[in-house]
Formats: sequence, structure tokens, C-alpha cells
Amino acid sequence: MSTLLHISASPRGAASESLQIANTFLETYRETHPDTEVQTWDLWDGSLPEFGPAAAGAKMSVFGGGTPEGEQAAPWRATQDTFARFAAADRLLFSVPMWNHGIPYILKQLIDVVSQPGMVFGIDPTTGYTHLLADQDKRAAVIYTSAVWGPPLGPEFGTDFASTYFNDWLARTGITDITQIRYHPTLSGDAEEARRSARAAARDTAKSF
Ligand SMILES: Cc1cc2nc3c(=O)[nH]c(=O)nc-3n(C[C@H](O)[C@H](O)[C@H](O)COP(=O)(O)O)c2cc1C
Repeated sequence: MSTLLHISASPRGAASESLQIANTFLETYRETHPDTEVQTWDLWDGSLPEFGPAAAGAKMSVFGGGTPEGEQAAPWRATQDTFARFAAADRLLFSVPMWNHGIPYILKQLIDVVSQPGMVFGIDPTTGYTHLLADQDKRAAVIYTSAVWGPPLGPEFGTDFASTYFNDWLARTGITDITQIRYHPTLSGDAEEARRSARAAARDTAKSF
């Protein structure tokens, strides 16, 4: 059975705009893909391991061709388990609110945990990175939301480093089939209309995802 994993980076529960758009997506997805298992992962639920000194040490051990041992062993196992959860999904749906012109730190934590040599990437001194999740028919849909920044506005309203960074990271894993669903009402825009339009885009994307 194929699986869709919804990864949410908003901690705002029922008040979350990105979660409400994700719920619209998932409602249509379940109707149109009854044979796909839908799983959800709230990154704020405490299941994401830290990536501190021992985990960083483990990463550098592996990078140098070694095996994490001693205090590095448990964090490395946690990293492997987290990567396995992430990489098992055939379809990925992300809810990504803009935080300070970038992504919420909990999503960066997921990136730092799973971006490991031999898992997400390989590296060659002359040809550079290889993308280990490529050619697995994986697809991603990303719901990007913000309240102040919006595409028509100038840099005085901020800069969108959220989607530029996150789309680039996804592509570096090898997942290049990325659909963006956007909700950027801006402070002077029509939030209701922006919501309607984002939900319509979510339903459309879900049907053929
Ligand atoms: C910590 C924090 C930082 C934010 N930073 C920005 C920002 O830099 N630019 C912006 O346009 N909106 C910013 N916002 C507003 C959110 O991006 C916006 O309300 C978004 O829709 C929230 O998504 P959510 O409701 O799913 O949590 C910020 C909100 C929070 C809580």
C-alpha cells in the first residue's frame, strides 16, 4: 500500500491557516485515493530527536568513514529511525508557515536530522552531491503561508527565504516533483479570498497527487 505523509511545521493547532489548508487537501485526497494510507506527523509532538553535539559528532564520524560509537551511537540510531519514517512515504505534504522570512526552526531540525550521508545524499569530491531519494517516484506538495510577505510586495515587507530554501532542500534529496500551494493574504489583502483560492488549489492538487 502506498502512503502519504503529512508533515506539519505549525504549532498553532486549530488556529493554523496552513493546517486548515492541509485538511482540505487531505479530505479530497482521501476521497480520490482510497487505497493510499494517510499518516500525519506534527513536528511539535516531541517525536523529533535533537541534533546536538553527539549527533553532529556521529555525522562527522560517518562522513569520515567510521561508525558512531559510545555516546554517538544512540543519537545516530534516532537519526536513522527518523530518516526511515521520512523516507518511507511515497507522497509528502508539508505545511510550512513563514517564520522570520524563513521556515520554522522545527522544520530545520527535521532537515538537520535526516540530511545524512548515505541517507539523503552522497558526496563525491569531484562531481559533488548525489541525491539519494531520486528516481523513487516520490512527490511533494508544500503549503506555504505568510501574513505580511506576499508575492506582489517589495522587500520592505520581507523576503521569501522559506520556499526558496525548502524547495532547494527537497530537490537536493532528489524529490524534484514539487507542487506549491500558497496562502499569502498580506496585511492589506482580502484574507477570505486568499483562503478560498488556497483551498481550491489544495483540492485540485490533491486529486492528481
Ligand atoms: C514566529 C512567527 C514568525 C512569523 N514571521 C513572519 C514573517 O517573517 N513574514 C510573514 O509574512 N509572516 C510571518 N508570520 C506570520 C505567519 O507566517 C502566518 O500567520 C502564517 O499563515 C501562519 O501559519 P499557521 O497559521 O499555519 O501557523 C510569523 C508568525 C509567527 C508565529
